[in-house]
Amino acid sequence: MEKILVSSSHFDTLCRDAWDLFEKNGLEVIFDPNKPFPAYTTEEILARPDREMIVAAVIGMDDYRDERKYQALPNLKAVAKFGVGVDNIDGALAQKYGVKALNAPGQNSNAVAELTVSFILDLLRAVVPLHKAMEKGEWPRHIGEEIKGKTVGLLGFGAIAKMVAKKLQCFDVTVSAYDLYPDVEAAEELGVKLTTQEEIITQSDIISIHIPATPETHHLFDKDTISKMKDGAYLVNPARGALVDLDALADALLSGKLSGAALDAFEMEPLPKDAKILQCGNVVLTPHTGAETKEAYYNVSMTVAKDIIRAVNDEEPVNCVN
Ligand SMILES: NC(=O)c1ccc[n+]([C@@H]2O[C@H](COP(=O)([O-])OP(=O)(O)OC[C@H]3O[C@@H](n4cnc5c(N)ncnc54)[C@H](O)[C@@H]3O)[C@@H](O)[C@H]2O)c1
Repeated sequence: MEKILVSSSHFDTLCRDAWDLFEKNGLEVIFDPNKPFPAYTTEEILARPDREMIVAAVIGMDDYRDERKYQALPNLKAVAKFGVGVDNIDGALAQKYGVKALNAPGQNSNAVAELTVSFILDLLRAVVPLHKAMEKGEWPRHIGEEIKGKTVGLLGFGAIAKMVAKKLQCFDVTVSAYDLYPDVEAAEELGVKLTTQEEIITQSDIISIHIPATPETHHLFDKDTISKMKDGAYLVNPARGALVDLDALADALLSGKLSGAALDAFEMEPLPKDAKILQCGNVVLTPHTGAETKEAYYNVSMTVAKDIIRAVNDEEPVNCVN
């Protein structure tokens, strides 16, 4: 029987319909709920007696940039990212081995957009530091800020950023966005001002990052970029850790240059215990949980399962990125 190796989490609980769909199509699911995340190393795959039966992999943050992975799985037809960001799959390498690289665009966007809006509101009222103070028995006074009247700058105007813009409509804010390939129609519809990257960086009260991590965007928010941000601005990064130089951000928070930052993604995950950002006051840090809602798990798993079945049957998948 052909098999699907699943290493994304909660597949047995939140993705039952996708699991059943695989089985109805004659595909056996290999899933170990106790496997630490990210799951299968190349060595572990090489040690599996059934590796030649594996025709597709559903992955979280497993590294599919290692050529030996493709050699270890000689009958692999598809590797599907359980989500959007495919920076842990080398598309060209996958193609060399006849493997389709798949993802599920838009399926977890709402989950990330909702977290983004909650990040912004939490930061402006220092919800996390105040909660931490109360845990210590303190009762501090803190003067927060209102979102009304602020300028929110969206770096990137793709699926998630558009949903953030839509959700912000009811807050009386000015929303600006910069995208390499701007969707002018959506901007008009959502009342978003399309502008330059420079203007987003220098004029926003709150910057929210929604672009992929690429060699060009590595540490886009470094010491220099952060120094150009408005004094007292806030930075929100629910995209990818590599976009922000975390130490430069920590320095800006500690010096008071920035008022706060909220981060869901980190260059090193899990975040090292000695990371300087942990010493900063007004930060909201979440462990890459942007896409982790019941609804997103369902949507992503069904999208990915349908496309894998297409790929396994030598049909054209809908969301192929290589
Ligand atoms: N925190 C999470 O759990 C989580 C979940 C899903 C996605 N993400 C991340 O969020 C980010 C956005 O995801 P999305 O679904 O909106 O993607 P998307 O592909 O729909 O949108 C990304 C947009 O960025 C634009 N872009 C690319 N490079 C750019 C650059 N250098 N400058 C300006 N614009 C640029 C693209 O043209 C595109 O419109 C990605 O990094 C993705 O990996 C994080």
